[in-house]
Amino acid sequence: MDGIRATLCSRNAHKARELERLLPGWTIEPLEAEGWPEETSTTYVENARAKAQFGREVLGAGSWLIGEDSGLEVEALDGRPGIESARYAPEGAPAIAKLLEELAGVHERAARYVSELVCLTPEGDEVRGSGTLVGRIAEEPSGSEGFGYDPVFVPEGEERTVAQLGDAWKERNSHRARAARALLAALGGALVLVAAGCGGMDRDTKQVLNAFFAGGPVARALGARFPHKPGTLPCVLHDKGVTLQATCATDISLVKPARAVVTLTEAWNHGAQAHTWFFFIRRDGTVQSVIQEGRPAPRR
Ligand code: IMP
Repeated sequence: MDGIRATLCSRNAHKARELERLLPGWTIEPLEAEGWPEETSTTYVENARAKAQFGREVLGAGSWLIGEDSGLEVEALDGRPGIESARYAPEGAPAIAKLLEELAGVHERAARYVSELVCLTPEGDEVRGSGTLVGRIAEEPSGSEGFGYDPVFVPEGEERTVAQLGDAWKERNSHRARAARALLAALGGALVLVAAGCGGMDRDTKQVLNAFFAGGPVARALGARFPHKPGTLPCVLHDKGVTLQATCATDISLVKPARAVVTLTEAWNHGAQAHTWFFFIRRDGTVQSVIQEGRPAPRR
């Protein structure tokens, strides 16, 4: 199966490049179109959805579409520029200068970035992911990577701005990185349909999943708990002598000729708590990298 080709319905070229790095194996192309709708909504999600739906109008049914809306919320400015971030002032130096002017003499400089992603599958289903990055606004700009307000945004726990921390840092930690991981988790089910087809796994998928579970010590250990094909199994976890009912789920997506993502999720407390591993693997089952989300489940 070919990798997923999606269209990002945004005029911001930075975001298409960022998202392509954040969704391994996906090809993300920016939407070339005239007549973009005004961003009239009061929420990021609605704006993101409107962008994705505009993409659907332009390209028709049958393609993967992503709408993204993001912004910077500054506590001392009652959450401004927020949803208006792109229109606050021209992006880059002018917007930064205006922000620093508004914050002149203000000591409480807490802020956060917000990103909302709305993905429309070829069948028209909507899948979402959101992410935030908490921090503060620096007194003056520094650094040259990233874009927008990055030269004045210092993430919590860091001393340097996002523009100084750089694109590699952003790839792991940004609000969009978090939103992309949440989207991948939410997409699990939809991706299975793409990879395996409704009702079953094709031969390639079966081989890759078997190779993964047979391949390394971590996958072998997890393999005892997780189903060896896309789907869910009841399983049990033990917390301080109490046995919890849980569900262990496996998803796989063959995302490019040479790559695949295996998603293993265990959910307990009626699904209110979950722990997910995203294994980015090669077709021979060997693991390239792993991301984990959520709280590890209690163990015996
Ligand atoms: P929109 O989502 O296209 O409406 O624009 C969001 C605006 O928020 C951008 O133009 C930037 O000004 C700001 N913004 C969103 N994400 C980032 C980021 O990662 N770094 C810096 N600025 C950002």
